[in-house]
Amino acid sequence: MNIKWDADKYTKDFSFVHQYGNDVAELINCEKGGTLIDLGCGSGALTKVLQEKGFRVTGMDSSEELLETARRKYPGIPFIWADAADFSVEEAVDVIFSNAVFHWIDKEKQANMLACVHRALKGKGQFVFEFGGHGNNARIHGVLAEVFSEHGYEYRMPFYFPTIGEYASMVEQEGLLVRYAALFDRPTELKGEDGLKEWIRMFVKTPFAKVDNAERDEIINQTVERLKKSLYREGRWYADYVRIRMKAVNE
Ligand code: BEZ
Repeated sequence: MNIKWDADKYTKDFSFVHQYGNDVAELINCEKGGTLIDLGCGSGALTKVLQEKGFRVTGMDSSEELLETARRKYPGIPFIWADAADFSVEEAVDVIFSNAVFHWIDKEKQANMLACVHRALKGKGQFVFEFGGHGNNARIHGVLAEVFSEHGYEYRMPFYFPTIGEYASMVEQEGLLVRYAALFDRPTELKGEDGLKEWIRMFVKTPFAKVDNAERDEIINQTVERLKKSLYREGRWYADYVRIRMKAVNE
């Protein structure tokens, strides 16, 4: 999926994306000095944290806007343009890490991506990742689909949110061994009174491709209004995130 990111807004208003990534990094079990690729590094905040943990890191992303921010903020780290579903490395690494990225990759491209990961890992290398799992943002997408339909449009789900069974099978099909897997709810606060509106505007882009700006705003306002009773509590918005988290090894 090719999205043009507003790198400043993403970095400033959606910092929870990388902050939550710290927990995922706890699954890495590798000596200091090990080599690590942060696949889908975005603006590099988590890549920096991984470097501070002692890894020799490289950030890879397919957004020039986000890479530019990453290079400006963290000039000591190599940040490389790469398509996660079609990349290769000169030297295999100890760890491939990824946070909040794989749901952006079409289901049809996941096997290619896993093959690239496998080829880029050393023997005994670790693949540690988290992204949106089955049921992620189900209320938000459910109401968006309802409102789209009332406006005469079909809502095509722009993300891939698999179950553990489906994804672990794909990872093992590729020849990696799954050592840990979890699927869990993680209600996520969206800052500010317009938190949900801003979230939809930032992340749900492709379904609106054929909708003009005025109607887009109307659809978003109607969606937000309807979600108030389930996602707005004590003056705060909470998105209904569900995470799939895994660790697999290249035996
Ligand atoms: C997620 O991190 O689960 C996510 C974020 C934005 C859009 C879709 C999923």
